Amino acid sequence: MSLATIPPEVARRRTFAIISHPDAGKTTLTEKLLLYSGAIREAGMVGGKAGTKGATSDWMALERERGISISSAALQVDYDGHVLNLLDTPGHQDFSEDTYRTLTAADAAVMLLDAARGVQAQTLKLFEVCRRRGLPTFTFINKLDRPARDPFDLLDEVEQVLGLATSPVTWPIGSGPQFRGVYDRPGRAVHLYERAERGGRAGVIGVGGVDDPRLAELLGVDAHARLVDEIETVEALLPPVDPADVLAARVTPVFFGSVLNNFGVDIFLEHFVRLAPAPEDLLTADGETLPVGGPDFTAVVFKLQANLDRRHRDRTAYARVATGLFERGMTAVHVRSGRKIKLARAHTLFADERETVDVAHPGDVVGLINPGVLRIGDVLSTREGVRVPPLPRFAPETFATVRPRDAQRDKAYRKGLDELAEEGVIQRFYPAQGARDAVLGAVGRLQFDVFTHRMGDEYNVEVVLTPEPYTLVRWLDATPVGPGRFGKLVIDLDGTPAVLFRHAREVDYFQEEHPGLGIRALPGL
Ligand code: G4P
Repeated sequence: MSLATIPPEVARRRTFAIISHPDAGKTTLTEKLLLYSGAIREAGMVGGKAGTKGATSDWMALERERGISISSAALQVDYDGHVLNLLDTPGHQDFSEDTYRTLTAADAAVMLLDAARGVQAQTLKLFEVCRRRGLPTFTFINKLDRPARDPFDLLDEVEQVLGLATSPVTWPIGSGPQFRGVYDRPGRAVHLYERAERGGRAGVIGVGGVDDPRLAELLGVDAHARLVDEIETVEALLPPVDPADVLAARVTPVFFGSVLNNFGVDIFLEHFVRLAPAPEDLLTADGETLPVGGPDFTAVVFKLQANLDRRHRDRTAYARVATGLFERGMTAVHVRSGRKIKLARAHTLFADERETVDVAHPGDVVGLINPGVLRIGDVLSTREGVRVPPLPRFAPETFATVRPRDAQRDKAYRKGLDELAEEGVIQRFYPAQGARDAVLGAVGRLQFDVFTHRMGDEYNVEVVLTPEPYTLVRWLDATPVGPGRFGKLVIDLDGTPAVLFRHAREVDYFQEEHPGLGIRALPGL
């Protein structure tokens, strides 16, 4: 494959992640993506769900429940001449810093909301990360086939809670049992669907303008009059979506539908591939721009997966190709160590089998067998010295004190603790005064399990974790003078002072006690 083929290949790629609260329908949407891309014939064909949600990935749960094989960090499918790379953002009990970090490898996010519930806690947290990264965010309001909130209310909630302007691209026709389809604003077309047997692709039974005379017959005179009225209001009040505003993350285009019934999913995908950005040039930490389709290959590691099965010690490092062409067997500089390494065994997860990747383009994710040298944030490049801005850190919300069970193992314990903290498995703090046991911070409890396991497996140290009642941390611009009554003063991995608090009110009390002291929700922000 020649380098000349890169730009069109880049232009047709869309790399994105779904952000949602558990139960909004992310697994179902992922499944529909496979269905619409032709990667599986019929969603849900292997029967309903059994058992509980996944232990390491929602996709593993999907794999088990629906009998299709997808797992790992990214799913790649072809859709209508485009290549879609959907990055896995595990939720549920797997929610961890990994979930957030995945968003750093995405070019766009799809925010999936439940039409009865609106913006929920986990969605809000994930959206904050998207906002900080300026990621274009698409909103899909799901489950319109169930009793749903008023669409205007839902738009209002997104605007109020997320502080993001909305622009509906589609509009729902009815809701609950009367949900019949969506109106496509740019296409000025009504799409009515027929409910299919579970999993089947919905039949489209009428496509025409809102004044199509057949509509009154299909919807009933009253429902049709309501629709005409609503569309008039929408067109009068809400400006059509401007692609430039979407790319600049100033506006979220909004879609309505029912993923389970395949209502509105096709139209969503059609507009998504049109409006979502293709991978862009890489801006290095030194202010240089590496052209996305240029001759230099660069990839950034954003996720490490340790195989938790003791019998298989291999680990996979997932890297997103940022520029140039990845070719299996190529040699690249591992920038942090300056060593050249051969990228021999890359694999990716296509819909139904693990395939060896021979080539990958910007926006694609490759899984590299990691002999232990690759860490999160590492750059692999055919060019020496490429540095990328550091991956952001995320504020932990759950804390535990840690110590080795056997004090004799202290040296190995400290080594493991430092290395795993540097790798980003957990965040490590030391109390500024008093006890010397470290306090670990995590975004999700799974991180503690991974830490405990890896300390045992790789450093042969059994650790004892004692949960701490803290729920939030604030970083300080300077070490406070004099003792305070609120919060526990700690020092993070970089030596920055921080305070752990039990609840948000304590932060206010702390600030009152220390007027003039700068406190931040994240270091450097
Ligand atoms: P998640 O990954 O975001 O947690 O959500 P998931 O897709 O597992 O969906 C959560 C539940 O919501 C599932 O029901 C799923 O079938 C249902 N669901 C998803 N989309 C829609 C929709 O458009 N309409 C309706 N009515 N339901 C929807 P479940 O009872 O947990 O599982 P199942 O037995 O239905 O598979």
